[in-house]
Amino acid sequence: MAGHKKLYVKTFGCQMNVYDSERMGEALATAGYVASDDITDAELIVLNTCHIREKAVEKVYSDLGRIHQLKQQRADQGLETLIAVTGCVAQAEGAEIIARAPQVGLVVGPQSYHRLPDLVTKALAGQKIVDTEFPDEDKFTKLPERTLSPSTGNGPAAAFLTVQEGCDKFCTFCVVPYTRGMELSRPVALVEAEARRLVQRGVRELTLLGQNVNAYHGEGPDGRSQSLAQLMERLAGIDGLERLRYMTSHPRDMGDDLIAAHRDNPKLMPYLHLPFQAGSDRILAAMNRKHTAADYLRLVERIRTQRPDIALSTDIIVGFPGETDAEFEATLDVVRTVGFAQAYSFKYSARTGTPAASLGAQIDPDIANDRLQRLQLLLGEQQASFNADCVGKVFPVLFERVGRREGQLVGRSPYLQPVHATAEPSLLGQIIPVSISSARPRSLAGEVLAA
Ligand code: SAH
Ligand code: SF4
Ligand code: F3S
Repeated sequence: MAGHKKLYVKTFGCQMNVYDSERMGEALATAGYVASDDITDAELIVLNTCHIREKAVEKVYSDLGRIHQLKQQRADQGLETLIAVTGCVAQAEGAEIIARAPQVGLVVGPQSYHRLPDLVTKALAGQKIVDTEFPDEDKFTKLPERTLSPSTGNGPAAAFLTVQEGCDKFCTFCVVPYTRGMELSRPVALVEAEARRLVQRGVRELTLLGQNVNAYHGEGPDGRSQSLAQLMERLAGIDGLERLRYMTSHPRDMGDDLIAAHRDNPKLMPYLHLPFQAGSDRILAAMNRKHTAADYLRLVERIRTQRPDIALSTDIIVGFPGETDAEFEATLDVVRTVGFAQAYSFKYSARTGTPAASLGAQIDPDIANDRLQRLQLLLGEQQASFNADCVGKVFPVLFERVGRREGQLVGRSPYLQPVHATAEPSLLGQIIPVSISSARPRSLAGEVLAA
């Protein structure tokens, strides 16, 4: 009989980790673990980690220090605590984690989550466990069915669904091909079954996830491979599913049918996250991005022709090795030309084992900081003006959670902006027209029109 052991999961990094944490919670539920949001109470603590930049990794080790103290305090009270590290740091560092942080009992890479219940049992018996194999079996077919464990993830109305994992692109700055392995697309039928299950549980919006989601080529029902556009056409047929999104896309894989889907698929939201990383062609080549700035701008034009009201977001890196002032200016030029509704921008972080880390001409941190500040100022202005332009419009808003203010709900516009409105809790999980009355730099507020 399964007991009631408490599980605390902390998630770092990207949306895929959020999804994975939910799936781990579901897998561990089969071993009697119940998710808790109180870490001091937990018999099993899972840190689901990110390796993308050095800072992300430092955060994990500083957390492990604090958790070590907690483990000792609990031991003084006669309570056991098992500490597990999962995710991309687990994959990249493996046994080194236990060497550096001996309080850790279990290190599990992203392709082994279906084995967690077993591995936990072994770890509880006193073995130190490191499982970072890329196993032959497909974890997705071995994980228990979705139950959307509420404590580890997003609210019930919007959910993530991984359809593609891994990356074969090998951008020279990036660890993901090493931590997530080769590109793998899940079969259409399995994605659809999971989507239906989530919709039955009240999900209205699905964000399809993949490191290169638009390179999706899952096996279709007839045995032939299907594109992301075809997959989304199928998912759009699910009653009760109202909204589709996908991320993250690579500019090289924006096929004609996917661009057309932004015009033709009524459930696909008019919002696209399309990283361009840098505006200089020399830097883009050194990054192994395999596109130029002009390619990117042409692509944006083509997308906007099919879907004029689409909003774009992006990822940008400043201070890539050898980046000159003029090359950084080229990045600002692309930002000015496109106009982004939202963006993530990062200072280049040299990652051991990636080709760019051994390039000469690493950029002085003060210069990189200065560039990041200038870039973020521009992006912040663009986001604020995009939001300001929404005032006076009516948006369908999917209400996802209760707001901090009494009587207030928070939802998302089609453009992923948080929208605050006074509304009955009964509207949670519903899409309701909201008249936008004011904008803040990163969010909107409005009045609910007739429900
Ligand atoms: N698969 C996605 C992004 C994965 S990582 C894609 O291809 O776009 C998310 C973002 O982190 C990247 O788009 C990039 O902007 C940033 N990033 C990745 N490696 C980085 C590094 N070494 N230093 C700084 N930023 C990095
Ligand atoms: Fe990393 Fe490039 Fe792959 Fe994105 S496409 S995950 S940036 S290697
Ligand atoms: Fe981080 Fe791994 Fe995601 S490195 S960004 S958690 S794929």
